[in-house]
Amino acid sequence: MQNHYSGLINRYRERLPVSDKTPVISLCEGDTPLIKLANLPAETPNGADISMYVKFEGLNPTASFKDRGMTMAVSKAAEEGAKAIVCASTGNTSAAAAAYAARAGMTAFVLIPEGKIAMGKLAQAMMYGAVVIQIRGNFDDGMELVKRVAKEAPVAIVNSINPFRLQGQKTAAFEITEALGRAPDYHCIPVGNAGNISGYWIGFSEMCGHNTESCTLCNGQCPFLADPKVTTRPRMVGYQAAGAAPFMRNGKVENPETVATAIRIGNPQSFDLAKAAVDESGGWFDELTDEEILAMQKRLANREGIFCEPASAVSVAGALRDIENGKIAPGSVVTCTVTGHGLKDPDVAIAQCQEPVVTIDANLEAVKQAILGNLPG
Ligand code: F0G
Repeated sequence: MQNHYSGLINRYRERLPVSDKTPVISLCEGDTPLIKLANLPAETPNGADISMYVKFEGLNPTASFKDRGMTMAVSKAAEEGAKAIVCASTGNTSAAAAAYAARAGMTAFVLIPEGKIAMGKLAQAMMYGAVVIQIRGNFDDGMELVKRVAKEAPVAIVNSINPFRLQGQKTAAFEITEALGRAPDYHCIPVGNAGNISGYWIGFSEMCGHNTESCTLCNGQCPFLADPKVTTRPRMVGYQAAGAAPFMRNGKVENPETVATAIRIGNPQSFDLAKAAVDESGGWFDELTDEEILAMQKRLANREGIFCEPASAVSVAGALRDIENGKIAPGSVVTCTVTGHGLKDPDVAIAQCQEPVVTIDANLEAVKQAILGNLPG
């Protein structure tokens, strides 16, 4: 099949640090849809003439954006002869690491905070055959342990401190720019460990021929920087959960807490890269309460048909609030990363659907009554 899409490494090979010797470990990740919102902008004060798009990363093979970085990290680990990989995770990284390790014939060790990861993510890590290590601590504790254990055991770290992760994740910015035929004016994104925002900044920058501080690999030597595709970069806007918002507190948060467990992180490893990206782009950070996050998770599902996990709704919630208050200028093109699928976290979703499910006898009259009683007025 000549035109068969075979994943982002093959798609963007000339813009990634791979060679003919790199075994490509891929699940056809990337190439996710950029969905134009049909209802929410018009329902928002000052939003009528905003073009707003969602990059739905929940449609990757393990249902989050992590697959982009993981295809790179695991392919490079395989190239270097690694037999095992390790990560700390709030859930999605562990799912992606487990899947790509399975494909590569490696063992994945995943450290997760006990009781604080969504059930779908735990199911994934277990099904893909990872060695799941629950710790009595949070993500930040897990991250410190991973950094230390990798010095004492033969395991490759696949958290986003691995620079190949950001290289994979930058491809989402390529796809957005190609789909729009231009860079957005603002790119809005949830921030936890702060790798993804840093990866996007590399990607948007490379698209217009700029090197960034975030790109620790090429030092401005990449030949494709001389062949810019567009002339502008977006303002990068990073949104956090209020109980886990180290960028708003300007430093570590000791006991991060939020319903959006994916971003329950107090000590982001890519703090400096993300801050540089936001500063350099003229963007900003902001925070959202758990109530705002859950309300937007539900609105995205029932007004736009996009079911994402709580952490992913943060970008859209923040963007719409900043459209309303005028921080995002009228007439702008706004893109939002929606990082993970709603099916990852069914417990939180069901808990916020208060209306009881109608239960009736299996006969025509009862079904008819259930329909007639619920038709729109
Ligand atoms: N959204 C989701 C659904 C995530 O899983 C994460 C991070 C983020 C946003 C934040 O991205 O860390 O690059 O700033 N999840 C990691 C994990 C920490 O372990 O799955 P970031």
